[in-house]
Amino acid sequence: MFFRQLLNDETACASYVLGCASHGQLAVVDPHVDLVDDYVALAGSQGLPIVAVLDTHLQADHVSGLPALVERTGARAYLPAGAGVEFDHHALADGEVVKLGNTEIEAVATPGHALEHHAYLVTDRRRGDEPWLVLTGDALLVGDAGRPDLHAGGEHTVEEMARTLYRSLTERLLALPDHLVLYPSHYSGSVCGRGLSANPISTVGFERRHNAALQFSSEEEFVVALTKDIPPAPEQQAAIVAANRSGRRLVANP
Ligand SMILES: [Fe+2]
Repeated sequence: MFFRQLLNDETACASYVLGCASHGQLAVVDPHVDLVDDYVALAGSQGLPIVAVLDTHLQADHVSGLPALVERTGARAYLPAGAGVEFDHHALADGEVVKLGNTEIEAVATPGHALEHHAYLVTDRRRGDEPWLVLTGDALLVGDAGRPDLHAGGEHTVEEMARTLYRSLTERLLALPDHLVLYPSHYSGSVCGRGLSANPISTVGFERRHNAALQFSSEEEFVVALTKDIPPAPEQQAAIVAANRSGRRLVANP
């Protein structure tokens, strides 16, 4: 399996290029708009085409590179079903698998940061029949859980989003084996979590033991802690969400 993590320090976003070198199929997960040339160059240097571009959710803190990358490469766009984007894409259901030769990417519905949010479980069939790593998006970060307020609204209050995230963590992500390598979509410097590590890689087991947000004894305790000291919302959040929903460029707020 080919796998690379690409970082954008300006917004502290992590993105991923992965896939099967033998079958010549690459995917990009959570691409940042400023790194589109880098993904294309990396794939080109490997002589492998990008055939799939996936977002874990509709981003609120930075503009996604998905539309631009799809336009450049002709790849298929994938987003969680119900993400509410206005451009052509394949709506991924919970448990659906995107096959890239020997590499398989399975959608794991993990709502709570956003209502439509997928983690992606990655299996390399050349190595084994069980998942090797998990891309956790903004649901579980290295040192914190995802903030529950950015996509809250209406009947989905911040508290309800935190309860939803609790279920995603306890029933889905923390149900995974300790040895799974964990790759988040943000790291230290991002507004999407508190006290994130500057190390953008961990394991499910290490986070289970040492992630402050996961040291709860009840749902109540988790919710109270997660809804405390939430960082300020990203600048231009509304304009960024609008750009990501439409697939068009960012129109800055006046
Ligand atoms: Fe997010």
